[in-house]
Amino acid sequence: MGSLMTESEMDRVEESGAKEPILYVNGVRRVLPDGLAHLTLLEYLRDIGLTGTKLGCGEGGCGACTVMISYFDQNSKKCVHLAINACLAPLYSVEGMHVITVEGVGNRRYGLHPIQESLALSHGSQCGFCTPGFIMSMYALLRSSDKLPSKEDIEENLAGNLCRCTGYRPIVDAFRVFARTNDALYTNESSGLSSSEFVCPSTGQIPDAKLVVGNTEVGIETRLKSFHYPVLIHVAHVPELNQLIIKDEGLEIGAAVKLSELVKVLKVVLDQRSSFQTSSCRSILEQLKWFAGTQIRNVASVGGNICTASPISDLNPLWMAAGARFKISDCRGITRACPAENFFLGYRKVDLASNEILLSVFLPWNSKNEFVKEFKQAHRRDDDIAIVNAGMRVCLEEKDQKWVVSDASIVYGGVAPYSVSANETKKFLIGKHWNKEMLQGALKVLEKDIVLKEDAPGGMVEFRKSLILSFFFKFFLWVCHQMDGVASFDETVPASHLSAIKSFQHPSVIGSQDYEIVKHGSAVGAPEVHLSSRLQVTGEAEYTDDVPMPPNSLHAALILSKKPHARILEIDDVAAKSSPGFAGIFFAKDVPGTNKIGPIVADEELFASGIVTCVGQVIGVVVADTHENAKHAARKVHIQYEELPAVLSIEDAIESNSFHPNTEKCMREGDVEHCFLSGQCDKIVEGEVRVGGQEHFYLEPNSTLIWTTDGGNEVHMISSTQAPQKHQKYVANVLGLPMSKVVCKTKRIGGGFGGKETRSAFVAAAAAIPSYLLNRPVKITLDRDIDMIVTGQRHSFLGKYKVGFTKDGKILALDLEIFNNAGNSLDLSLAVLERAMFHSDNVYEIPNVRIKGKRISMEVQKSPEEIREINFQREGSVLHYGQQIEHCTLERLWNGLKASCDFLSARKEVEQFNLQNRWKKRGVAIVPTKFGISFTAKFMNQAGALVQVYTDGTVLVTHGGVEMGQGLHTKVAQVAASSFNIPLSSVFISETSTDKVPNASPTAASASSDLYGAAVLDACEQIKARMEPMASKHNFGSFAELAYACYMERIDLSAHGFYKTPDIGFDWATGKGVPFRYFTYGAAFAEVEIDTLMGDFHTRRADVILDLGFSLNPAIDVGQIEGAFVQGLGWVALEELKWGDAAHKWLPPGCLYTCGPGTYKIPSINDVPFKFSVSLLKNAGKWNIFSMNNVSFDRMLQMIRPSTHRSSGEPPFFLASAVFFAIKDAIIAARAEEGLTGWFPLDNPATPERIRMACIDDFTKPFVDDSHFRPKLSV
Ligand SMILES: Cc1cc2nc3c(=O)[nH]c(=O)nc-3n(C[C@H](O)[C@H](O)[C@H](O)COP(=O)(O)OP(=O)(O)OC[C@H]3O[C@@H](n4cnc5c(N)ncnc54)[C@H](O)[C@@H]3O)c2cc1C
Ligand code: FES
Ligand code: FES
Repeated sequence: MGSLMTESEMDRVEESGAKEPILYVNGVRRVLPDGLAHLTLLEYLRDIGLTGTKLGCGEGGCGACTVMISYFDQNSKKCVHLAINACLAPLYSVEGMHVITVEGVGNRRYGLHPIQESLALSHGSQCGFCTPGFIMSMYALLRSSDKLPSKEDIEENLAGNLCRCTGYRPIVDAFRVFARTNDALYTNESSGLSSSEFVCPSTGQIPDAKLVVGNTEVGIETRLKSFHYPVLIHVAHVPELNQLIIKDEGLEIGAAVKLSELVKVLKVVLDQRSSFQTSSCRSILEQLKWFAGTQIRNVASVGGNICTASPISDLNPLWMAAGARFKISDCRGITRACPAENFFLGYRKVDLASNEILLSVFLPWNSKNEFVKEFKQAHRRDDDIAIVNAGMRVCLEEKDQKWVVSDASIVYGGVAPYSVSANETKKFLIGKHWNKEMLQGALKVLEKDIVLKEDAPGGMVEFRKSLILSFFFKFFLWVCHQMDGVASFDETVPASHLSAIKSFQHPSVIGSQDYEIVKHGSAVGAPEVHLSSRLQVTGEAEYTDDVPMPPNSLHAALILSKKPHARILEIDDVAAKSSPGFAGIFFAKDVPGTNKIGPIVADEELFASGIVTCVGQVIGVVVADTHENAKHAARKVHIQYEELPAVLSIEDAIESNSFHPNTEKCMREGDVEHCFLSGQCDKIVEGEVRVGGQEHFYLEPNSTLIWTTDGGNEVHMISSTQAPQKHQKYVANVLGLPMSKVVCKTKRIGGGFGGKETRSAFVAAAAAIPSYLLNRPVKITLDRDIDMIVTGQRHSFLGKYKVGFTKDGKILALDLEIFNNAGNSLDLSLAVLERAMFHSDNVYEIPNVRIKGKRISMEVQKSPEEIREINFQREGSVLHYGQQIEHCTLERLWNGLKASCDFLSARKEVEQFNLQNRWKKRGVAIVPTKFGISFTAKFMNQAGALVQVYTDGTVLVTHGGVEMGQGLHTKVAQVAASSFNIPLSSVFISETSTDKVPNASPTAASASSDLYGAAVLDACEQIKARMEPMASKHNFGSFAELAYACYMERIDLSAHGFYKTPDIGFDWATGKGVPFRYFTYGAAFAEVEIDTLMGDFHTRRADVILDLGFSLNPAIDVGQIEGAFVQGLGWVALEELKWGDAAHKWLPPGCLYTCGPGTYKIPSINDVPFKFSVSLLKNAGKWNIFSMNNVSFDRMLQMIRPSTHRSSGEPPFFLASAVFFAIKDAIIAARAEEGLTGWFPLDNPATPERIRMACIDDFTKPFVDDSHFRPKLSV
């Protein structure tokens, strides 16, 4: 399609005027007036109503804002189509181009594009917030590819797009079909641009101007670091800066050449020139594979990367090592050359005078026996900045039948304020024979050459030091391998070392899903696609921030505490009040109702009144005419504090006895002390487990639009929340209004995962104050970093255990103390702690126990799997809180999985691999789980629904649950459709609203489709009962006829349904009861491979099986499992929160460092297991169905176990711990190489740092002398 124009817009295209800055958007010509330089393309697009393009992060890290730009490229003389991040593109940077947004690709009225259709049908859109970005990345790939992309190309191309819901597999499957077909759907036709010239909107000399090309660095500086540049000059299209010339001596690369262009030309060079000449080119090409995502590479320039002089630039070490020369020009056009190795002078400081710019880079060809190699280790392999990187070059020459070093250059990034050469090492190397002796000597010199201080910014000092040596070792092996077979080169690489230098290749993901379809009625049990999927793939689905602002609206920004614990001495808001667009500022004294808030205990203040107790605590709110002006004004509020001692970690809290009141809980079964003393235990071990917290990382940040009606008598809001009722309650309380006058509506949210259960309500309440007091609509949408700072994360935990067991591995007693970091307010932390206590037994038959099977297995020389089996609970087992297990399918699942993954063979193969490979190790693990379904607070297990049948036979359902991508509305609609025996398309769920269904519990705890499915069913049954006399009298041709006939007979066709979970209850006084209606069982197998020298890992295979009983919608459930598993994989291996505490002294106390996708890495598409199988236990629901003869289908639905849907603690999420234990298994093999066979600690998450540092070897030993070394973790 490509262009969707209304008639009036067509008219505007024709009014083609004189030379003025213009832009085409989806085929419509738009003039860009002066004065919009502060806008990003994203802001502009959303301002003109194209809200399909989303703001997920604003820092180029999530891809939600992806659009395609098309323009005529002077170099290639053709029209190019590129995916870019609209959030970083200054509006004027796309002047003269054609921008296609998701709305321009296809829509429901004119038809979906095949990409959109495919994604919708493949269940590739859950919450849908990431979806437009994926569509645009794929669309741009197809538009820009000369030949159809391969499967691998497609996956690589999507590395810059994050999805938190799906686990990526369905997205890959949806797009993969475009790799195979060969139709002519996608052509490189002209975008409609009439001219290849770009218009410069301003002229004249501007000495203070800042150059920008891709704006990927400057954009971050201005958006996130509040830098202000009065004038920006976009030089991306200056021809002199865009030259790419292949010369006899090397390659000349213009400073504005985009990285994606560089990739293309390097590939050409590799084809054209002899292999030895292109060693530098190859290494740059390899490094660019792991440089950002496609959208960034499509705009980021070579010169921008160089001139930023970032200490972790991926390319600068390579330019330096490769002997590149930079050509610099001053404003008179006089040029000079500077060797790359002399260009970097200090932290973000380069050898450029204020009147100079970088013109080009000259990369010389390599000579024979000159080798250049790149290195990079990041938190996440794809689209992440380096922890340490390096460029290394060595020239060997033959002297006296020995190969000696004639020249070398060893350059590191990430170890100093700028890229640094290891000069002493270079000196040492020159003249040395390239052999093991040289290696040992060089490592010793290198250790002292590159020095990292203990408090170096970025932390991870031991890891970074180990990487410095590990990289060099890899370089040594690689050069030896390159020289293999060269006459008189006598250093050979043992076969077992070869895998250490093999570069990582990601095969295309293979997913399989295995489930049976047991359909009941017209819809229940069918694998229906998410009801909103077609709206989501076209960008038409509306989220809170997309709702048009009413007239007279204001934007709000929060004023936040910068101190972890302090007394507020003075607030100076004078500067804020005079800042542009300012409309009001409000503090604790202005709150008309109560300033005390909290979901269970009101221990928080809406606005801190005297004391702040964490960084990011809200002190006040500012409103202004625009979002930017509101933020600007908030930044201008100056607060003076008197600092007080702060508790920043669980250890601090234990030491200072700082616990939330009345939160100590205990569950007991048997007599643990007696068991330890009785002598029954052959062994007793003690230890500690640390589990880091996790950011929920919903793609859609918190957002609320709130307004008053009737002169302020009523308050209405639209909120992105899992708990509209909590928003209603908080807002009513802080405004001093009755709840009946406050309404909260939620149509859908862009992911929640528990993070929008309570931690969104105070955001709405803060915006309510100015809205109510000024009687004006107010919108608050949090920036990603603010969202992460103010809302808190999933809890970190510390577990202290003492466990006694027999020599066979049967666990007899466990004394366990669990601490969670509840932060500065109680919020839901007690419920989370209780949940942890209930589930601490997992599936093991031990009183009061949660056990880490691995430790015991090492003590008794049995595999963890054997230990697990020995200790399994069984049908009839009584749990440590008194509930008896019924319908336990654990063994069936476990044995089935062991057989299907052929666990014994897998273990053998892994052992074989480990014998043959010294520096790469594989590991396997199989882990079971049991998860209790119900809210542990009994009163919350209730649900309401409103069902309305209209005279045309369509049904409107409203219920208390929120659609957040988990498919709740789809499943509930299926229940209503089956109940009335009508097509699913006749049922509609518009939104969740507190004035339709009151007092709803938050949508959480894996309970919602049970609760709301049953409540809706109750309402349907009531209506059916009322219809029954009419239905039995006549033979109606359709449900519509019946409904109309009932209406004519004055039969009420609206009903309120209600459901409360039966037979549950728990008494904390006795520690006994039945907290859960039932348990969901599951098991997972994982196989991983680790690079012991770098700490890198990937999951080769994951098989997950779950017993979901009878699934309301197996396709949605499989999607939930995959998504939860990949989210869990992030929790166990990738995602690490860091804040200023004793472990991270380089950060200001209490400040969250990991507050955006740049620093906090959730899994990307390339972290998905290579082979990923999900199955649902078959015939699982039959026992229920067969045992319920003579019950109605509707009653049966209530009684059979329903499907699952994700929240923070769900089974498939936990099952990703199989990846953690497989990593641990691989580390055990690595440690065995060093003779280390005993237990060792491995905290969660097992990041590259923890993996590397646990694989003790000669490259870690100089920096850690403890084989139980534990890298620092914020808990
Ligand atoms: C999501 C994301 C991921 C990233 N990943 C990586 C990564 O993996 N590895 C990595 O190394 N970097 C990474 N970066 C950093 C950044 O993308 C690169 O440094 C990029 O190459 C900068 O180019 P640019 O054209 O966007 O620079 P701009 O932001 O346009 O400019 C950067 C600086 O260079 C100056 N400048 C530009 N051209 C010239 C010139 N010709 N002469 C003088 N000064 C000039 C500008 O004035 C400015 O100070 C990432 C950034 C983001 C946002
Ligand atoms: S919003 Fe642009 S990349 Fe996240
Ligand atoms: S569907 Fe991708 S983030 Fe929700």
